[in-house]
Amino acid sequence: MRSGVVLANESIGGGYHHMIVNCPKIAEEIKDGQIVHIRVKDGYEPLLRRPFSVYLYDKKAGTIEFVYAIKGVGTEMMKSFKPGDEIDLLGPTGKSYTLKEGAKKIVLLGRGVGIASIISLGASAADKGIQVEAILSGKSPEKVFGGKALQSPTTTVNEVYDIDGTSDVENVMKILRRTQEEGGIDQIFVCGSKRLGQLAYDFANEHNIEGYVSLEERMACGIGVCHVCVCKTTKGYQTVCKDGPVFPLAEVYG
Ligand SMILES: Cc1cc2nc3c(=O)[nH]c(=O)nc-3n(C[C@H](O)[C@H](O)[C@H](O)COP(=O)(O)OP(=O)(O)OC[C@H]3O[C@@H](n4cnc5c(N)ncnc54)[C@H](O)[C@@H]3O)c2cc1C
Ligand code: FES
Repeated sequence: MRSGVVLANESIGGGYHHMIVNCPKIAEEIKDGQIVHIRVKDGYEPLLRRPFSVYLYDKKAGTIEFVYAIKGVGTEMMKSFKPGDEIDLLGPTGKSYTLKEGAKKIVLLGRGVGIASIISLGASAADKGIQVEAILSGKSPEKVFGGKALQSPTTTVNEVYDIDGTSDVENVMKILRRTQEEGGIDQIFVCGSKRLGQLAYDFANEHNIEGYVSLEERMACGIGVCHVCVCKTTKGYQTVCKDGPVFPLAEVYG
């Protein structure tokens, strides 16, 4: 268990909140795509921690950041965290995304709140000079975030929406094909939508590209003990909290 101090916790529109927490221990250990489980209140109600992707981190400053959507009792309580509040964190947990040695170009595909999982990876890749093609999908422009955090000379951000049809499979496939034609994609990373996961798998399979998906399942213990979060994979049932949340695409969709 780690203690963190809230530095900021503000609405960013679209039903999302952005929270910055000072927690040097987690910031030091965190890897892209890992999870932190937040205790939203002392006592027994609610008892279970809530799992969140670490959206961004700054190892020097000792900070980690989250973007969260208000869904139920826990996230409703998180909304009232104020700067200076001390919060109880468990993490980082789970498997991270890994950038392949020598990778020159990667694709990030994120939808809705699942975008939070892929942004720090995009930032890490850009820091290494890797070309990043990000496709950020949501119902409407307010439901898409993270574009600014990805800004870099080697990154292209494509925002696609349901309201104008640009998030359709055909259009996303078009962006993927164009990216592949402009120079081979080395890896694809996806989070936030089964439909996008399937599309990424089909594309990766067709072009022999290494791909990973981060899964979301309801969680209880968060440390691989209770098996509430199991998912079926080609390797049998695996826990999303400990064996995942990041899995090779072929293990989930193959
Ligand atoms: C690996 C992972 C990463 C996630 N990253 C983010 C993120 O970056 N931003 C974000 O907004 N949300 C994220 N979520 C979803 C987030 O955990 C749920 O929205 C949150 O737990 C809902 O809590 P609640 O009390 O408001 O909702 P309630 O519905 O009241 O929660 C009841 C119980 O169900 C669990 N639960 C409900 N929905 C989910 C869910 N979708 N996934 C897992 N457990 C759930 C809660 O933890 C709680 O134990 C992530 C989930 C997982 C598994
Ligand atoms: S939440 Fe208990 S095993 Fe994953």
